[in-house]
Amino acid sequence: QKIVLAYSGGLDTSVILTWLKESFDAEIITFTADIGQKDELDGLEEKALRTGATKAYIDDLRDEFAKDFIFPMFQAGALYEGQYLLGTSIARPLIAKRMVEIARAEGATAIAHGATGKGNDQVRFELTAAALAPELEVIAPWRIEEFREQFPGRAEMIAYAEKHGIPVTATASKPYSTDRNLLHISFESGMLEDPWFDPSADSNRDMYVLSRAPEEAPDQAEYVELGFERGDCVSVNGKRMSPLEVMETLNELGGKHGIGRVDMVENRFVGMKSRGVYETPGGTILFVAHRKMESLTMDREVMHLRDSLIPKYASLVYNGFWFAPERLAIQALVDESQKNVTGTVRLRLYKGNIMGAGVQSPVSLYNPDIATMEADPSKAYNQGDATGFIRLNALRLRVASGVAQNAKK
Ligand code: ARG
Ligand code: SIN
Repeated sequence: QKIVLAYSGGLDTSVILTWLKESFDAEIITFTADIGQKDELDGLEEKALRTGATKAYIDDLRDEFAKDFIFPMFQAGALYEGQYLLGTSIARPLIAKRMVEIARAEGATAIAHGATGKGNDQVRFELTAAALAPELEVIAPWRIEEFREQFPGRAEMIAYAEKHGIPVTATASKPYSTDRNLLHISFESGMLEDPWFDPSADSNRDMYVLSRAPEEAPDQAEYVELGFERGDCVSVNGKRMSPLEVMETLNELGGKHGIGRVDMVENRFVGMKSRGVYETPGGTILFVAHRKMESLTMDREVMHLRDSLIPKYASLVYNGFWFAPERLAIQALVDESQKNVTGTVRLRLYKGNIMGAGVQSPVSLYNPDIATMEADPSKAYNQGDATGFIRLNALRLRVASGVAQNAKK
């Protein structure tokens, strides 16, 4: 039997690799997606092979992640519970998709992951697998009782690793869990489990990875110009860029100015509330810029219709339904809504803030001749028309109010 394991090289997935190999008497093929987590990938193939994998895939999926996952989601304006830009959620379906492809190419019968039984990630991996390769079995060791009994804590895992010659890197383990990619880094558990714990306190500055504290950001504001075509950012400061380059450039800029930090208690799909801290520097700039571009170029009713679908779309991504028919249906509407979202947005970045500093478009729907308080040279709008417009809209309000007043007499 062959099993493809989603492998990060950390203690958990290293132990899982060995444990799966022994418990299932199986050949383990590891898969690691490069989705922009940076240094964590160094020496990974060698480590997987030394830990007992027969083959170790490390695939650079950064371009695909930016182009086919992050960008379509940002066209939708997705935001979960008003705050979360879905940095982890959007990566899971891509990882699972590639994992399933490898399983098929290798003739594996199962895929395995190290997500816990209490989180969202397990759901996202497995719903994606179900949608794309229903024939594959999924093994989630953290949901297997014997595994949990064998490893009640980190001490048991470290002991197991030492006994099995699993190379454990000596880096002091952080007292919280992180997940990093091109879009964000998340922090959960440990001291963050106390919702009164203040992650922004000076004493906690070392936790952050992608951004400076606003207090340490430059005292000079910095301008940035984002060029959009059909809802996608295609240039930064006049330089044409791929989606991956856009994300890297904006992350750098946003991080420098302390942009995109979020601290929230969110609702997990499995029912519990959970506290998360996020850094999404580039994504936050992109999100604000995209909305500003739409403000000039998008039809009102199309915008309001799309906006009404944002909570739904965000929940679909959060809950792992990226490859579900309803997400694809909404995406088709979103794509249609973006046809005219073209132009340039200028922003000013300053100590954690993003200020609008101008927007222009060759296909702008904004007409100063119509909106102006001065005499209207276009004659497109006749102020007298507003009298009838208001009178008809007021009709039902007058009727209802009159009825209420009569009833009181
Ligand atoms: N709470 C966030 C989400 O569900 C982040 C999850 C982080 N995952 C992790 N394995 N550390 O999208
Ligand atoms: C996990 O439980 O594996 C991480 C957190 C989550 O998936 O929500």
